[in-house]
Amino acid sequence: MPSQPNNPHLPFGDQRTAPWYGKDIISVKQFNREDLEYVFAVAHEMRTMVERVGTFDLLKGKILANLFYEPSTRTSSSFTASMERLGGSVIPINEVKYSSVSKGESLPDTVRTLECYADVIVLRHPETGSAAIAAKAARKPVINAGDGVGEHPTQALLDAFTIREELGHLDGLTVTMLGDLKYGRTVHSLSRLLSLYKVKLNYVSPDILKMPQEVIDELNAKKMEQTESGDLAQVLPQTDVLYVTRVQKERFEDPAVYEKVKGAYVIDAAIMKAAKDRMIVMHPLPRVTEISMDFDEDPRAAYFRQMEYGLYVRMALLAMVLGKA
Ligand code: NCD
Repeated sequence: MPSQPNNPHLPFGDQRTAPWYGKDIISVKQFNREDLEYVFAVAHEMRTMVERVGTFDLLKGKILANLFYEPSTRTSSSFTASMERLGGSVIPINEVKYSSVSKGESLPDTVRTLECYADVIVLRHPETGSAAIAAKAARKPVINAGDGVGEHPTQALLDAFTIREELGHLDGLTVTMLGDLKYGRTVHSLSRLLSLYKVKLNYVSPDILKMPQEVIDELNAKKMEQTESGDLAQVLPQTDVLYVTRVQKERFEDPAVYEKVKGAYVIDAAIMKAAKDRMIVMHPLPRVTEISMDFDEDPRAAYFRQMEYGLYVRMALLAMVLGKA
């Protein structure tokens, strides 16, 4: 939404002067370290509440429009669950082909329509920059749930929360990102977010799927320690967080190129013998073949727990932008 001053005439007890009230969440660049601590604290509180009572009425009467132009299981259903656990409700638009988008309606018009009915819009769209375009058109908060190969800020926030809950801290860690670092929007957001901490980043990928130079330059300017290679064995023994990504088949222009790199890395129980005992393996999911199921029962496999942390973080973000955190 366009920036607007807080309204000083709201009734006492209303928290609409809270810093995130009415804000869009488009990029991790909007967050500083203090904001992150705040998100973590609220998410932690959400976890306690869900464990204690399951559902509660913090956002009773509020409506979320879940607008998905690309497939999604976790992001879409966790936003739905978040809203419903907070007592609100959801307009789900998962199949844009059944909406007026298939008649040629523009994104700004669709967003302007949905904000007539909803208090907040969650958007996933195949084009980089689409979330910013939607946010400009809308008066209500827009939350970016993935804009093409651009960013996926709520995923990065839940990833950082996962690391914090699992390992207790972020400063001093070595994080290795593995797989499709070119098209994987989750690693674009997470690496930027981790630049708020004293983290060492290793990028391991096939040559044609390297982390974009733009991200590397940005983090170099922040004096972040980064290494690049094609060989996981070199960095695995020192790694505290191994962040595995899927090769993003849908972003390849030439299917033959995808076929060449799709199986470049497979994490399995044998490979993980070289890793520390106290470390975690994360994955935004869905996985295809890049983590073997024979590793799932290992206590270091954190990817299923990571999904659950996502619920608490998205509950926190909804409460924040709707002025109730
Ligand atoms: C990711 C995405 O959509 O970018 N999934 C997710 O949101 N959990 C990763 C992926 O699709 O590989």
